[in-house]
Amino acid sequence: MSRLEHVISTKQFMDTKLLDEIFDLADRMERDTKEGRLPQTMKGKVMASVFYEPSTRTRFSFETAMQRLGGGVVMTEAAPMFSSAAKGETLSDAIKIISGYSDVIVLRHPEKGSAKVASEASDVPVLNAGDGTGEHPTQALLDMYTIRKELGRVDGLKVALVGDLRNGRTVHSLINLLALYKDVKVFLVSPAQLRLPDEYRQYMGERGMKSEELDDVSSILGQIDVMYVTRIQKERFADPAEYEKLKGSYVVDNAMLSKMKEHSIIMHPLPRVGEIAIEVDGDRRAAYFRQAKNGMYIRMVLLQMVLEK
Ligand code: CP
Repeated sequence: MSRLEHVISTKQFMDTKLLDEIFDLADRMERDTKEGRLPQTMKGKVMASVFYEPSTRTRFSFETAMQRLGGGVVMTEAAPMFSSAAKGETLSDAIKIISGYSDVIVLRHPEKGSAKVASEASDVPVLNAGDGTGEHPTQALLDMYTIRKELGRVDGLKVALVGDLRNGRTVHSLINLLALYKDVKVFLVSPAQLRLPDEYRQYMGERGMKSEELDDVSSILGQIDVMYVTRIQKERFADPAEYEKLKGSYVVDNAMLSKMKEHSIIMHPLPRVGEIAIEVDGDRRAAYFRQAKNGMYIRMVLLQMVLEK
């Protein structure tokens, strides 16, 4: 099995060979979980789950992954309030201390770049569970795994990234991974105020990735293979009035679905707050709940890759 030191950014994944290894191992984790014969490879290890921002999927999937593999979990789920951050302790000091008690740290923090800072302070591997408007690399890995599993390939796909591309960290991480595949075309669909930041646009250019910027999905519904919808990130807006203007910019419903290809999928990192109508949930193309479940298997693999000797 390949080894990883930390998981901070999807830019650290340089080729699809490592991704294939992660996805094949995730397939095995799913099979072993269903058959009740998961190897207890994390026995005697402790994962510190350190969340300075709210989470449901990332925290629960990491914690259940660790526990199902026989490991233990210690956690703070509202670190600004219930850790010594409330007394003014710096992130670096907190991580230095926590790394003395645990074998691996999963960190979510509101500041872009915080996971890198933490990895430099830590004596144990750090897994970035979302650093502000920066990245969410483990989400992007489960997203790519979902695409491969649902559609059987990534090369040649047409992918629409829809919503808050400025603040949506899952999209930032996903673009870096999509850029590793051949002949992928990305449609960047957002309101003008929420366009993809230049650094990701530049990276796509350097990798020779085809992209097109749009305000609306209507003209591309019949040609896309993946519609990846994101929430407008309310918590990143300094002006609540600006958020109110933009929320509800995109709503996927059955009328929209009827114009999409039979073998396409709709994804969302979740939580959704109205971007996908409930009526869509019953359609086979609605992949977002399967996508969320895949996160546990991917995170099992990542824990093994940073911890197994
Ligand atoms: N997708 C995701 O990061 O969800 P949570 O915020 O619930 O962890």
